[in-house]
Amino acid sequence: MYGRTYHQNPARAFEEMRRHGPVVPILLEGDVPGWLVLGYRELRYVLSNPKLFTRDSRQWNQWDNIPPDWPLMAYVGYQPSMLFEVGAAHERRAGALSEALAAADQFELRAHCERVVEGLINAFIGSGRADLIAQYAVPIPLLALGSMLGLPDQDTRALLGEVATALNGGPAAMEAYQRIQAIMTRLLESKRQRPGPDLPSRLLAHPAKLTDEELTQDLLLTLTAGDDPTATWIGNTLQLMLTDDRFAMTLSGGRSSIGQALNEVLWKEAPGQIAIGRWPVMDTQLSGRRIRAGDLLVCGLAAANLDPAVHPDFYRDSMGNHAHMTFGYGAHGCPHPAPELAEIIAHIAVEMLLDRLPDVVLAVPPETLEWRTSIQMRSLKTLPVEFTPGYPT
Ligand code: HEM
Repeated sequence: MYGRTYHQNPARAFEEMRRHGPVVPILLEGDVPGWLVLGYRELRYVLSNPKLFTRDSRQWNQWDNIPPDWPLMAYVGYQPSMLFEVGAAHERRAGALSEALAAADQFELRAHCERVVEGLINAFIGSGRADLIAQYAVPIPLLALGSMLGLPDQDTRALLGEVATALNGGPAAMEAYQRIQAIMTRLLESKRQRPGPDLPSRLLAHPAKLTDEELTQDLLLTLTAGDDPTATWIGNTLQLMLTDDRFAMTLSGGRSSIGQALNEVLWKEAPGQIAIGRWPVMDTQLSGRRIRAGDLLVCGLAAANLDPAVHPDFYRDSMGNHAHMTFGYGAHGCPHPAPELAEIIAHIAVEMLLDRLPDVVLAVPPETLEWRTSIQMRSLKTLPVEFTPGYPT
């Protein structure tokens, strides 16, 4: 999972691993042992049994061997957010978040996204060149989600910078964490005094009566869990449409293919390739493997999507099939209606770009595009394009 094959062509890496079965022993960084669940049925079984396979990382039987600066600590280090909550306590917080997200005005979200996208395109349209990752895909979800949180743009950017510093650990982490707390405390205080049409105001008023710590944790989680995957979804869809002849033919024509490209990416180039993790609370068996209590299970979301045992022909018919694992599954899956909100953001991003830059093409040979060397995210480093320069609107 750390070689060039995994980073450049994960589908091939999964195919090789699958020869050893749907659940395979793996070594993560620092030779830390785990199990990768590659099979669709096996993954669905794990994710739909949260009592047996808990999300609470404190159950891990390897903690004595994990240094505090372990590179994957951000995914396993316990935080009092709903991510690591289980049972009724999780339901209370996940339910409140879902209701607050569902009450968001989707017309307003669309209008805000359009303004954001227009501003970003205006900034580079005169030059005839752009990097669609850094200058386009990355800032869009950040600014869209920030506005759902009722945050000014500069606070949203500051917050994500601080979260990245805090997750990197080291001496700077504690100070970053304090600045995060300060931004969130300010946000909650201002929403308490002047509630608005935003997520924090709705959560503050929710009958679940979340504490300030719960609100801070879950709002931060919403921002961090939603930002990178949505940006990656946009980037991967643009990459597909710019490199695959089936879409290139319709770039300047009909737009029905955008929905197809977005869905195809969810199946073939899932933004999050894996989710770390689940921990069995007792010794168990999975597809003939003996798994001990507290072993780490890494959820192979992308591998499960590519499992030939489930749906060998889905490429031909991915349009109407949304049964992929890309948004997870079960109690801890991406909460309703977050996938729908991500789709609104991603669809507007792709559609408006193609409308404003009808002759956009890749500025480099497709085979030179580089993927980030992350075991988790399947995202491009850059996506350089060129087009006939235009005028800002
Ligand atoms: C393409 C976009 C997205 C993808 C691929 C994605 C994927 C996922 C996945 C796979 C999980 C489950 C992880 C696990 O089981 O360990 C998850 C959880 C979560 N996602 Fe998303 N997500 C996306 C967008 C969003 C957005 C836009 C939001 C917020 C508005 C969001 C909020 C969350 C939250 C709060 C959780 C934690 C749920 C829990 O633990 O109960 N996600 N997401």
